[in-house]
Amino acid sequence: MVARVRRVVAAAREPREAVRAAVEAVHESSDRYDWTGVYLLEEDETLVLSHYVGEPTPHERIPLGRGICGAAAREKQTLVVPDVGADPRYLSCDLSTRSEIVVPIMKDGVVLGEIDIDSHAPDAFGPADRQELEQIAALLAERFAGREVSH
Ligand code: SME
Repeated sequence: MVARVRRVVAAAREPREAVRAAVEAVHESSDRYDWTGVYLLEEDETLVLSHYVGEPTPHERIPLGRGICGAAAREKQTLVVPDVGADPRYLSCDLSTRSEIVVPIMKDGVVLGEIDIDSHAPDAFGPADRQELEQIAALLAERFAGREVSH
């Protein structure tokens, strides 16, 4: 999966296209991924949904510190939530969602955005998912480095 994403990210003409291609390749890589999206951080305070595959979400803009997404960006670390119903930070997008992973996209300690994946299966995300998605986040961070990313 990582090799495929590396190819599509490298082939993209600009960062926004790289995000779209990466989201689609990641989504297709597992039946457990029911909603896959990338949020980009704007003005250091709001996560704005860039591209996604899955049902439309009411949470297209998430302030830092809100939701699992905001917490991951603020804490600058991957968050794996095996049971979203048991996490008070969770912002619901789809009643079918049972578990979630959020992986920050960071360059030199600065959060640029994040990869967010929801699953209808409980506890769907293991160490292998986390490791692969952190590699994808690093690829995207490289692609963004030194550029403005427009929506
Ligand atoms: N569940 C997220 C909100 C985004 S949706 O998953 C698409 C959260 O708690 O931050």
